[in-house]
Amino acid sequence: MEVIVLPTATDTASLAADIIEQLVTRRPDPVLGLATGSTPGPLYEELTRRHKSGLNFAHARAFMLDEYVGLPAGHPERYAAVIQREVTEPLDIPAGSVHGPDGAATDLIAECERYEQAIIDAGGIDVQIAGIGSNGHIAFNEPGSALTSPTRPKTLNARTRQDNARFFDSLDEVPKHVLTQGLGTIGRSRHLLMLASGAGKADAVAAALEGPLSASCPASVVQLHRHATVLLDEEAAAGL
Ligand code: GLP
Repeated sequence: MEVIVLPTATDTASLAADIIEQLVTRRPDPVLGLATGSTPGPLYEELTRRHKSGLNFAHARAFMLDEYVGLPAGHPERYAAVIQREVTEPLDIPAGSVHGPDGAATDLIAECERYEQAIIDAGGIDVQIAGIGSNGHIAFNEPGSALTSPTRPKTLNARTRQDNARFFDSLDEVPKHVLTQGLGTIGRSRHLLMLASGAGKADAVAAALEGPLSASCPASVVQLHRHATVLLDEEAAAGL
């Protein structure tokens, strides 16, 4: 695990963009793992700037980390909509090359099995972008998630729903259930690129990087990963 601390989130976004740029310029068939949340925003904006200057993503495929269950089609906070708006349209990744678990599927367990297999059939994820929740979650793997877990349905805990309420009109509108790549799924990515910024993440970052490898802090799987790069701004690194 490589931990890099830089002054600001703009700096970490720039370094993360360098890693993605290397992947998409060197590989004929790059597979990206995309995360939602505020943290990767500056990275996606930097990639969009580079795309406008000629960085090509037309040959890339992408897999999302997670999705809410129960949001109606067309809801702007469905992660499929967020990723389309913030990443795949600005980067011109072909829509048919972008995949996510379907939170509207009738059989959610079958849908998770299908999605897990789709990632394997694509040859796995080359670079998985991930943030970290204030309670140490990664994707939507809440504390207590098995370290080897596959893609599966999960129930959000109160703190995560509260954290994500800022994207909705009220806390009541935040879904209670989600589909998420598991800690085992994330563990199989060839390169895990974890980003964190701001003082609100300092405790979770310290627990994930320096605490025990434990289901109580799902993001601690970063310690187990064969190739992990953790990019922190100074505020998020304050507890290390
Ligand atoms: C959500 C997402 C996670 C993300 C987390 C932190 O729960 N499912 O993938 O890492 O939020 O979000 P933020 O970056 O906005 O703090």
